[in-house]
Amino acid sequence: MRIAIFGMGYVGAVSAACLARDGHSVIGVDIDPHKLDLLRRGHSPIVEEGIQELTREVVDAGRLTVTDDVAQAISQTDISFICVGTPSRKNGSQDLVAVDKVAEQIGQALAGVDHYHTVVLRSTVKPGTTLERMKPLLESHSGKTLGQEFGLAFQPEFLREGSSIKDYDNPPFTVVGGDSARTLDQVRPIFEHLPCDFVGTEIGTAEMVKYACNAFHALKIVFANEIGRLSQSLGLDSRDVMHLVTLDRQLNISPAYLRPGFAFGGSCLPKDLRALLHMSKELDTDVPTLGSLIPSNHLQVDHAANFVLETGKRRIGLVGLSFKSGTDDMRESPLVELAERLIGKGLELKIHDPNVQLSRVIGANRRYIEETLPHLASQLMEDCRAMIEASEVIVVGLSDAALVEQVISHAREDQLVIDLVGLKDRTALKARYQGLCW
Ligand SMILES: NC(=O)c1ccc[n+]([C@@H]2O[C@H](COP(=O)([O-])OP(=O)(O)OC[C@H]3O[C@@H](n4cnc5c(N)ncnc54)[C@H](O)[C@@H]3O)[C@@H](O)[C@H]2O)c1
Repeated sequence: MRIAIFGMGYVGAVSAACLARDGHSVIGVDIDPHKLDLLRRGHSPIVEEGIQELTREVVDAGRLTVTDDVAQAISQTDISFICVGTPSRKNGSQDLVAVDKVAEQIGQALAGVDHYHTVVLRSTVKPGTTLERMKPLLESHSGKTLGQEFGLAFQPEFLREGSSIKDYDNPPFTVVGGDSARTLDQVRPIFEHLPCDFVGTEIGTAEMVKYACNAFHALKIVFANEIGRLSQSLGLDSRDVMHLVTLDRQLNISPAYLRPGFAFGGSCLPKDLRALLHMSKELDTDVPTLGSLIPSNHLQVDHAANFVLETGKRRIGLVGLSFKSGTDDMRESPLVELAERLIGKGLELKIHDPNVQLSRVIGANRRYIEETLPHLASQLMEDCRAMIEASEVIVVGLSDAALVEQVISHAREDQLVIDLVGLKDRTALKARYQGLCW
């Protein structure tokens, strides 16, 4: 394909060399005459393993050329990748001056071409930038309409400096948010030889994935280092500890616990986190990230409570009370916290949980309900359907198939379902719907 790359920095220079190596005809564009001069002479403007040799090879073969003439680059290519910088401003916001400038320039250049051109933004940008900022700039400067005369996509870049050619050839996945299937079809052939999945998605999702990945990586590093400091204070080798942590591929290094949902609770996580934080105090070892987990977890309960309170409705039905499906354990259940919050605000709350019916619970849990939660015990209803029918708002707190089935079949158009669990299939749901954080 004929490809233009805007911004010959770390991302652009590697992408340009690799795309040219893969047989494409690549034009690099930059505002820095020094970088262009280096590239013209076959030198890469960045230091990376293997990049000098690769750049020389593709420049000598005539497959990578450079220019500062945007109109020329756009007229001679079918697709552009924008890899300009998006540095932080003092207040942490993104400086999008370079992205805006390139969008204006490409827009002006598009006005003069009569072939369909696809613009792919690869710079890391806050969600909304591609459609709310680039699209209007491209349309107003070109006089053309997205989807008719040009396509637009966002493709997050996952390469790391220091190993970027290897990362380019072995990405975790290729994610492309496109304005249309046509745009995705234009991008796909460029990357489909890579040994990973090609995932087409919404543009905003693709923009957010990059931030989610980088935040997750930072979180992993900080987590390992906090466990490291704590282990060291305890006289333990943190590398042994963390090595064993990584060997658990079921709960630790896996998709487990990575689906947005309701707060955690139960008999272990809150208790053991508190113990860990107490240890850290005794050992004078600060672990601010671990210390932020319980407050953040409370915010998730607040978030759910706020949705209910903001409806202004009074008759609320809560489906579930125990801390997770299939158990009657209510110790530190976040649904108990939510129920108490709603009752405290004077709402008429009714609760159904098949595992927490006073007629059925026995032993310690019965005592727990009667002694610790007498105010909730009186709100329990055995008949789920009757509770749903009597409620204005139904809060789904557990995902047992039988409970979900009751909600889907009995909730009416005039009711609102607030979903804390991420109902998988709600095509048959008649009620209005509010997801907790999706
Ligand atoms: N560096 C990385 O490892 C990495 C990895 C993933 C994503 N990213 C993201 O990719 C983007 C680029 O990062 P980078 O490290 O390559 O940046 P960089 O600063 O190394 O390179 C940016 C290049 O864009 C050029 N430029 C600026 N305005 C221009 C314009 N109007 N026209 C053409 N060129 C212009 C600059 O001269 C510079 O050469 C950023 O948004 C960054 O967050 C970077």
